[in-house]
Amino acid sequence: MTLWGGRFSDAPADVAWAFTTDDSDRRLLGDDVVGSMGHVAMLAHVGLLTAEEATQLHGGLEAIRDEWSSGEFAFTESDEDVHTAVERRLGELVGDVAGKLHTGRSRNDQVCVDLRLYLKRAASDRISQLEGLVGALAGAARRVGDTVAASYTHLQQAQAIPLAHHLLAYAWMFRRDIARFEGALERIDVSPLGAGAAAGSSLPLDPAVTASHLGFGAMFDNSLDAVSSRDFVAEYAFCCAQAMTHLSRLGEDLVLWATEEFDMADYGDAFTTGSSALPQKRNPDVAELARGKAAAVIGDVTALLTLQKGLPLAYNRDLQEDKRAVFHADDTLTAGLAAITGMMESLVATPQDVSPWVTALDLAEALVSRGVPFREAHHVVGALVLRLTDEGRTFADLTESDLTDTDPRFEPGDVEVARSPATSISRRTVPGAGSWGSVEHQLAALESVSRLD
Ligand code: ARG
Repeated sequence: MTLWGGRFSDAPADVAWAFTTDDSDRRLLGDDVVGSMGHVAMLAHVGLLTAEEATQLHGGLEAIRDEWSSGEFAFTESDEDVHTAVERRLGELVGDVAGKLHTGRSRNDQVCVDLRLYLKRAASDRISQLEGLVGALAGAARRVGDTVAASYTHLQQAQAIPLAHHLLAYAWMFRRDIARFEGALERIDVSPLGAGAAAGSSLPLDPAVTASHLGFGAMFDNSLDAVSSRDFVAEYAFCCAQAMTHLSRLGEDLVLWATEEFDMADYGDAFTTGSSALPQKRNPDVAELARGKAAAVIGDVTALLTLQKGLPLAYNRDLQEDKRAVFHADDTLTAGLAAITGMMESLVATPQDVSPWVTALDLAEALVSRGVPFREAHHVVGALVLRLTDEGRTFADLTESDLTDTDPRFEPGDVEVARSPATSISRRTVPGAGSWGSVEHQLAALESVSRLD
């Protein structure tokens, strides 16, 4: 069944039908029914439906919702999209009164209401999953305790840090992803019903009633904007892409940590996979695929922006393609968050062989604390590193006389600073720096904003 036969003498060509119909919107069926219930309530409120008609339509819609949730709803070849399927089935269930459902409505505002209802729910689900991941990262940070690691710049060891500090850097990234979804949610939470095909209606509709019935925080201000804008979809996909990119980046660290070269962490068998050829292998495929799958989600954002960029106002059928992209982005993030959260819960740290040079900056800062200009102190320590390297030695076997021969402003206690990455960490006082105190502070701060277990 089409919703528009009257003006046509011929049926659509098979190839045209196959090209224009869509089944990617079927998951919107529950929201389409809820949106229609809100519309029916508004039509009855303004007197465009009698109470009896509204009851009949509502009953039919409830029956459709039951069929959908029990998996019994049957689509037909001739359903152009999910909206057509619901209206067709409603006609089968309640007869001619079904023809009144679309009063004052177009699929153009209807599809937006469906997608907005869907994305509102999806955003709060993703926020809960992200909270779970922040909790798993905080849990891993607690578990690794006082494990010392190196921070890196240019993938060269830089300064000693608590491994927990590295894990918590990701927790803060995912916290911002939560805030981003919360921000997007505000802009998704706007009812477009009443905008109709493009310019509204001559009927006495009351969009505020529909909006409040459906639990929207606001209603549209401009009907053309309401039916044609998809920035809420692109923004949602961007939230997914940014969170996927964070998962990808964490995934890259997890892959590195599992190598024999880094040998910093191990993940449970349940989160590693084997090789068909190499019997000894335990591969971090979950982390690799977080990295790999981020690519197509970034592509979804590009698709959604490109979809909008040259479109004249208002609705154009191009917009049908928005759903495939945003559902792909959201589904990929959903699966990625679940898998990486599990992987983080299984992480066991193995103590790292930290380079003895990671305390070089501390040694320079010991001189700075005695009034030596930083640039000079940097040069003094650099020359010491060069000399020790030439002698085949490191800070690990540094002696007091090595220091005092290099510069009389060094003091005996500086040997301990140079030789111990753990001491280097303890001496750091800058808030938010890689120190034990900072890790405790961060965990407390994350606990105060998150629902951590
Ligand atoms: N399936 C369509 C979409 O997703 C619904 C709106 C169709 N509107 C129309 N005027 N043909 O965009």
